Amino acid sequence: MIETDTEISKAEYLIALEDKYGAHNYHPLPVVLEKGKGVELWDVEGKKYYDFLSAYSAVNQGHCHQLILKTLVEQAQKLTLTSRAFHNNILGEYEKYITEYFGYDKVLPMNTGVEGGETAIKLARRWGYKVKGIKENAAKVIFAEGNFWGRTMSAISSSTDPSSYEGFGPFMPGFDLVPYNNLEALALALKDENVCAFMIEPIQGEAGVVVPDEGYLRKAYELCKENNVLFIADEVQTGLARTGKMLCCDYDDVKPDILILGKALSGGVLPVSAVLANDEIMLTIKPGEHGSTYGGNPLACAVAMTALQVIKDEHLVDNAFFLGKYFRQEIAKIDSKLIKEVRGKGLLNAIVFNTDKKDAAWNFCLMLMENGLLAKPTHDYIIRFAPPLVINKKELDKCIKIIAKTFAQFESKYPD
Ligand SMILES: Cc1ncc(COP(=O)(O)O)c(C=O)c1O
Repeated sequence: MIETDTEISKAEYLIALEDKYGAHNYHPLPVVLEKGKGVELWDVEGKKYYDFLSAYSAVNQGHCHQLILKTLVEQAQKLTLTSRAFHNNILGEYEKYITEYFGYDKVLPMNTGVEGGETAIKLARRWGYKVKGIKENAAKVIFAEGNFWGRTMSAISSSTDPSSYEGFGPFMPGFDLVPYNNLEALALALKDENVCAFMIEPIQGEAGVVVPDEGYLRKAYELCKENNVLFIADEVQTGLARTGKMLCCDYDDVKPDILILGKALSGGVLPVSAVLANDEIMLTIKPGEHGSTYGGNPLACAVAMTALQVIKDEHLVDNAFFLGKYFRQEIAKIDSKLIKEVRGKGLLNAIVFNTDKKDAAWNFCLMLMENGLLAKPTHDYIIRFAPPLVINKKELDKCIKIIAKTFAQFESKYPD
């Protein structure tokens, strides 16, 4: 029990429980949610909010999607986990489905996004040794500054954000960095014959929805090809319709050598990730050399098939594309000196604040919350706006009104 001598609300009590018994590795907004449906969430006091984070793009199909839940419940009643020590009757069907969906020879199923990244790097290193002929233990992977692909030791070893890596060394060797959206630097880095892969987010989500120049991905891919280097696309956040294409790389007509998917692959009901590649890469890993107890479990496989089918059946790619354009256009009309820039693709967008006050974006999100919309700052001056892709125009219009109203209130509360 949390000891208190004053009356506290249910939300305050639940927040205090987390604070007392949970690690302090997150700093959530002070809202306690208990129900979700489509683009809406309800807190423990019954207040309704529009979700403009979508669990960092894991809930593209909307909260508690009926078909995804149906699959989840039906499969859970039959078989959930066998481990890969045995075959199960869903895995092969899922592997056929997802490889045909994205046009690859093979898939390697994992659980979280960061495991997808780890898997991609192991595949790339192995390919580097077995196929490219890099000397043992010399393989290098190039990343872009500002990258974010999770919290494991490998992921933070490529990070340029001190809050990710500081105090956690020593780090994974063999990782090099180039500035994002800089082709000259990449061209130079790729000249090193020990480089096996370039791993890139087509839009840097956690860095603040940083969109590269048009054609950057295409040219980066071509540079990789010229230098016999694998192009790894981390589409964990940008993939699965979020940016208004099935994959964000589709904007530049690039088919990555290794594609990492996660988050919305399950529609937000359990952790499911996948790494896709062709045989030349995938078959360099042999039995016993990589895996995960839960990776490829029948529950995840069944859910992922439905989650992918929903994206197609409900035309989420087109919805994200058109409503995303509309969102940026309407936000650009808001007359506020606080707005420095509105940027993004599809329904992965951000507003960059024009202020040097470190708590401005956080305070703005608190005010948005009061007004019934949930969004979260990324870094101090940027707010990401990423609603579930099932949002319709009427709902989006209401949300744009809330955002506009909040800017007006914010300016009168914090005048300079
Ligand atoms: C681009 C990208 N890759 C990988 C990850 C890691 O995914 P997870 O948190 O499921 O491990 C994230 C998470 O935000 C991400 O944005």
